[in-house]
Amino acid sequence: MAVVAASAAVPCTSSLVAAVQTPPRCSTSRVSLFKSMIAVRGGNTTTILAAVVTETQTAKKVKESRKNDEGLSTNVFKPKEPYIGRCLLNTKIVGDDAPGETWHMVFTTEGKVPYREGQSIGVVPPGTDANGKPHKLRLYSIASSAPGDFGDYKTVSLCVKRLVYTNDKGEVVKGVCSNFLCDLKPGEEVAITGPVGKEMLMPTDPNATIIMLATGTGIAPFRGFLWRMFFEKHDDYKYNGLAWLFLGVPTSSSLLYREEFEKMQGDYPDNFRLDFAVSREQANAKGEKMYIQTRMAEYAEELWQLLQKDNTFVYMCGLKGMEKGIDDIMTSLAERDGYVWADYKKQLKKGEQWNVEVY
Ligand SMILES: Cc1cc2nc3c(=O)[nH]c(=O)nc-3n(C[C@H](O)[C@H](O)[C@H](O)COP(=O)(O)OP(=O)(O)OC[C@H]3O[C@@H](n4cnc5c(N)ncnc54)[C@H](O)[C@@H]3O)c2cc1C
Ligand SMILES: NC(=O)c1ccc[n+]([C@@H]2O[C@H](COP(=O)([O-])OP(=O)(O)OC[C@H]3O[C@@H](n4cnc5c(N)ncnc54)[C@H](OP(=O)(O)O)[C@@H]3O)[C@@H](O)[C@H]2O)c1
Repeated sequence: MAVVAASAAVPCTSSLVAAVQTPPRCSTSRVSLFKSMIAVRGGNTTTILAAVVTETQTAKKVKESRKNDEGLSTNVFKPKEPYIGRCLLNTKIVGDDAPGETWHMVFTTEGKVPYREGQSIGVVPPGTDANGKPHKLRLYSIASSAPGDFGDYKTVSLCVKRLVYTNDKGEVVKGVCSNFLCDLKPGEEVAITGPVGKEMLMPTDPNATIIMLATGTGIAPFRGFLWRMFFEKHDDYKYNGLAWLFLGVPTSSSLLYREEFEKMQGDYPDNFRLDFAVSREQANAKGEKMYIQTRMAEYAEELWQLLQKDNTFVYMCGLKGMEKGIDDIMTSLAERDGYVWADYKKQLKKGEQWNVEVY
């Protein structure tokens, strides 16, 4: 067993404070661990010091495909009989001036929803739809590592954007599940299904180069990856490769988990590179909007070189639109070396080196 102190900061909100003052139904030990997480509060951020305790995991033989790992759980809970968790913490993690609200939330699982970094869970919102039928589940990428934010394998975290839009009739419409989740208070129940998903599972090779491409809440799986790589100690996994995160958001006030990632970079400068693309505040030399692919283009040559290695793995998560932008860069790089990107990508996908979950 090993222990490591992980430090993270999120914008301070009343819900975070409320979560501390009104602990949900949970064991005494969890309450004290929970309280111990809330350490320093200054300015408009609250620093969370999480004592992450990891357990010795049985050393597994590396299989050909990480997707066939027999220890991987899927669909343990189905919509008809979901796991009922409770909200432990729910906090807005973007500034008040950010376009839209994104929340980080932690739910209890009692260890009954065993998940891996990169998987998703379903949430069944309460109530019925316009046809009087129970609402269908919505999928959310898990934003925590397998041990969870408290390190006890008994919680799961999400990163959720509140969907609000104006329809053709000029009416403001609120997305059912995202609003339910963003409004959840500590102690309230949430119906969870899953876990599901194999596309975004991490490579097992601790020396892998892992390139993570995220827009907005697409950051969720990568927070899990990065906690495993840099905030935790595992007897069977000591990351010593290169992790490179590109994160695209609209404004600097919407840079998700920035303090956590900057801490990792400070602690592991040789193993972690971090690049932001802030679309509404930054532009490239041509004056074009700084999208994630625009930022990547600055490192096109280096990225292309990394892609030639057998142990480089690319993961993409977030807005569907980013996929085409990234393909466009790769197409020109591949062409230059005499490859057709579509074919090249097919090979990478076969080797599980190119992994995409966009929506
Ligand atoms: C694998 C996967 C992982 C996901 N992970 C996350 C995650 O980590 N975080 C996250 O926040 N979301 C994530 N999502 C999206 C999530 O599942 C929901 O779709 C999202 O929260 C909206 O659900 P809702 O119930 O609030 O909206 P709903 O009530 O279902 O409304 C959505 C519908 O509203 C309509 N609509 C939406 N925007 C507009 C618009 N601008 N104009 C007109 N109509 C519109 C569309 O018909 C859309 O289908 C993920 C999706 C998938 C498939
Ligand atoms: N596993 C999954 O499939 C998964 C997981 C999590 C989230 N998601 C989805 O990911 C999306 C994230 O949305 P969000 O609201 O959280 O993000 P957001 O905060 O709005 O940030 C998205 C960023 O991407 C930029 N962008 C817009 N069009 C782009 C394009 N064509 N190419 C590259 N960048 C582009 C936006 O720029 P501008 O706004 O300035 O144009 C903005 O900077 C949601 O649709 C969510 O459902 C999917």
